[in-house]
Amino acid sequence: MYTNRLITLQLIKMAKKTNKNTWELAPAPESSGHIDLKKQYELFIDGRWVAPKKKKYFATTNPANEKKIANIAYADESDVDLAVAAARKAFDGVWSKIAPSERAKYIYRIARIMQERSRELAVIETMDGGKPIRESRDVDVPLAANHFFYNAGWADKLEYAFPTKRAEPLGVAGQIIPWNFPLLMAAWKIAPALAAGNTVVLKPAETTSLTALKLAEIIEEAGLPPGVVNIVTGHGDTGAAIVNHPDVNKVAFTGSTGVGKIIQNAIAGTNKKATLELGGKSANIIFADAPIDQAVEGIVNGIFFNQGHVCCAGSRLFVQESVAELVIKKLKDRIGTLIVGDPMDKNTDIGAINSKEQLGIINKYIKIGNEEGAEMYQPSCNVPSKGYFCPPTLFTNVAQSSRIVQEEIFGPVLAIQTFRTIDEVIQKANNTPYGLAAGVWTDKGSRIFNLTTKLRAGVIWANTYNKFDPTSPFGGYKESGFGREGGLHGLSAYVKLV
Ligand code: NAI
Ligand code: MG
Repeated sequence: MYTNRLITLQLIKMAKKTNKNTWELAPAPESSGHIDLKKQYELFIDGRWVAPKKKKYFATTNPANEKKIANIAYADESDVDLAVAAARKAFDGVWSKIAPSERAKYIYRIARIMQERSRELAVIETMDGGKPIRESRDVDVPLAANHFFYNAGWADKLEYAFPTKRAEPLGVAGQIIPWNFPLLMAAWKIAPALAAGNTVVLKPAETTSLTALKLAEIIEEAGLPPGVVNIVTGHGDTGAAIVNHPDVNKVAFTGSTGVGKIIQNAIAGTNKKATLELGGKSANIIFADAPIDQAVEGIVNGIFFNQGHVCCAGSRLFVQESVAELVIKKLKDRIGTLIVGDPMDKNTDIGAINSKEQLGIINKYIKIGNEEGAEMYQPSCNVPSKGYFCPPTLFTNVAQSSRIVQEEIFGPVLAIQTFRTIDEVIQKANNTPYGLAAGVWTDKGSRIFNLTTKLRAGVIWANTYNKFDPTSPFGGYKESGFGREGGLHGLSAYVKLV
C-alpha cells in the first residue's frame, strides 16, 4: 500500500517535470544476478559436451549493450557428422524402440524442468537476443514449455492422432532455427520430433545460441538417452552441413526466404522430407465497424511486439478510408507512449534489435521508404546510446509497389494503406510474394468468414493478432514456405503414415 502510494507520487512528480501527458515509469530492471552462464560453451553431442574439432569459437553479445556474453563453439562438417551419427545410433538403438509412454515421460520431464528454470531461461533469452523481459517471461518461455507438454501428450496416443494408420518416425531430423524466438523455435521443432520417435540435430542461430544450450542442459538433467537430442552451434555453413548430410531424413527450417530457397535446392532429388517456415509481409485489415481502440492495440501488438522480429508481423496495415484519419491519429498517439530501451526493464515495450546487421537492414528500408516518397512518422523517444535500437516507425502515403510494402523488413516499421471495398483490400492484401498471416478487424462474423476463404495466408486472426497456441497449426502459403508446425499438423510432419 505504502509502496504503491510512493510509486504514484513519484509518477506524478515525473509527469509534471517532463510536462508530458504520459507518465514516465521508474526503472524496474530484472536482475541477472541468479544467472549461471559459462564463459565458453561446447557442442552437445551424444549426451556429452565436446569441443569442436577445429577448436573454433565465436562470441555471442548482448545487443542492448554490445557486451560479449560468452564464447560459442563453431561446429564444422566433421562435428555435424558426429552429431548425426549419434542421433542415428540413438534412433536405431533406443528412441524408436522404447515404449511410447516412456518417450512421453521424458518429454514431460523436459517441460517441467523448463517451468522450474523459467526465470533463468527468460533472463538469458533477453540478454542474448534483446527482446523485452516481459515477453520472454510471459510469452516465449511458457509457450516453449507448453509445446513440450502438448506433444508429450501425443507420444503414446499416435494411433488416435492418425486413426486407421500406423505412424512411424522418419529417423534423424536436422533442425535449423532463427534468432527471433530462439527457445520457442527450438521447442516447436524438438517437441513433435521426439514425440513421434525421431532423434534430433538442432542448430540455433549464431546470435542467440544460449537458450538452446540451456535447453541441452535441461535435456541432460531430464536424463534423455545420449544422442536423442544433439545441439550444434555455428553459422550458416554449420546449418548447410546439417541440410546436406546424407544421413538426415528430415529438414526443418525457419528463417529467411533466401536461405529457404537454398535449402530447397540442396535437398531436391533426395528423399529428405522438409518443412520450411519463411518470411512474411502480413496484412492487418481494419474495417470501419471494428472496435477502433482494440484494433489500435492489435496493430501495435502486430508490428511492434518483439521489435517487429516476427515472421508473421502485421507489417502492412490496411484501414478503411472512412476511419483512416481517426485510426492513424490514435496510432500515432499510442506509439508515443511506447517505451523503447533496456530490454531487461519490465516496463520496456520495444527492446533491442537483435544485431548490428539487422539494425542495418531496418535502417536501409527506412531510407528506401523516405526515398520512395512515403511520409514517415516516428515519435520522439530517448533510445540508449549503446546498443542497437530503432523507434517505432510508421509510413503513410505508400504505393502498392513500394519496396517497403513488398519486402520483409523484420523490424518495427509499419506501412499504412487505405481501402474502400472488400474486393479492393483482398486484392491488395494478397498482392505480395508472401502469405504467412493476416488480421481482420470487424464487427461482422460473416465478413470474417468471407475473408478467411479469400486471403492467401496460413493464419488469419480475427479481432486479435499474434496469438499463439501449441494446439493450432502455423505455416505459410507461397514464398512464406510450406508445411505446418504446431497442433496435429505439426506432429504429422514428423511421421510416415503406413
Ligand atoms: P537466415 O535465414 O540467414 O538465418 C536463419 C538460420 O539459418 C540461422 O540459424 C542461420 O545460421 C541458418 N543458415 C544461414 N544460411 C544457411 C544455409 N545456407 N543453410 C542452412 N542454414 C543456414 O536469416 P538472417 O540472415 O539471420 O536474417 C536475414 C533476414 O531473414 C531478416 O532480415 C528477416 O527478414 C529474415 N528472417 C526471417 C525469419 C523468420 O522467422 N521467418 C527469422 C530470421 C530472419
Ligand atoms: Mg547474442
